[in-house]
Amino acid sequence: MSPIDKYAVYGHPIKHSQSPRIHQLFAKQTGQSIEYNAFDITRDEFTVSAKAFFSSKGGGKGLNCTLPLKEIAFAFADKTTVRAQFSKAVNTLARLPDGSILGDNTDGCGLINDLIGNQGVCLGNKKILVLGAGGAARGILSPLFEQNPSKIVIANRTVDKAIDMANEFANLGYIEGCGYDQLNNAQYDLVINATSASLSGELPPLPDTLLSESACCYDLAYSDKPTTFIRWAKEHHADKCLDGLGMLVEQAAEAFYLWRGIRPKTAPVLKLLNSEREI
Ligand code: ATR
Repeated sequence: MSPIDKYAVYGHPIKHSQSPRIHQLFAKQTGQSIEYNAFDITRDEFTVSAKAFFSSKGGGKGLNCTLPLKEIAFAFADKTTVRAQFSKAVNTLARLPDGSILGDNTDGCGLINDLIGNQGVCLGNKKILVLGAGGAARGILSPLFEQNPSKIVIANRTVDKAIDMANEFANLGYIEGCGYDQLNNAQYDLVINATSASLSGELPPLPDTLLSESACCYDLAYSDKPTTFIRWAKEHHADKCLDGLGMLVEQAAEAFYLWRGIRPKTAPVLKLLNSEREI
């Protein structure tokens, strides 16, 4: 009998990761037999640990990499998908049959599948504002442009980073970079919080007039309770106020598909996780 296929998520911190549970639910649903564990791994430990995991002795078939390891995982992979190259970050590593390691980024696809597939949001010809110009913002720009929005604006505390990122993605569509104090005169149909401010309960300074009539607000972060940004969105009467739990489940489904060649149903898993929190 061949040994059970091993998967894991690496991150730091990792204690509250939902990934082991989500992947076990997918495995049960699709009749797959896998082992999936969470390991607290720092940047310094990553390369040695990932090499051992993927070695023939380690027997690892796939890794998810979360904060703060996505950039180092990108450098670790022998080859990367186009979407990982756009984001310069990898959240999914897969051991291919020839022993080489493929790096992919399923985050952006997870966001789009949640927004469009689960929430019925249409992005064609819409104005999108992305708050933040770090790794999380970088990972979603190319998949957002594939939906043909009329424009994307990136606003960031450090204005130069927003402008640099806008220049970098300018060949994909109409994009501008600016600071928060330049957001006064326009309304947006979709506002995505890609800052890490939510993690510390903070919020970038946003004007009260930011949202169009039927705007959707999406926080890439998620929590058991509404995040600071979601509270702001509710106070400002956004039509839809969504956090990143749906994206988490969708990016996991895409990783599962890459590893196992079978696409799990996400709705029952998302329903279960949502039923366990106060949102
Ligand atoms: P990630 O990979 O999660 O995007 P990151 O690359 O460190 O993490 O980027 C964090 C983002 O959140 C940055 O855009 C950061 O703004 P700066 O570039 O100006 O640092 C933004 N951010 C973090 N805390 C913030 C806060 N309190 N208010 C506004 N923006 C914040």
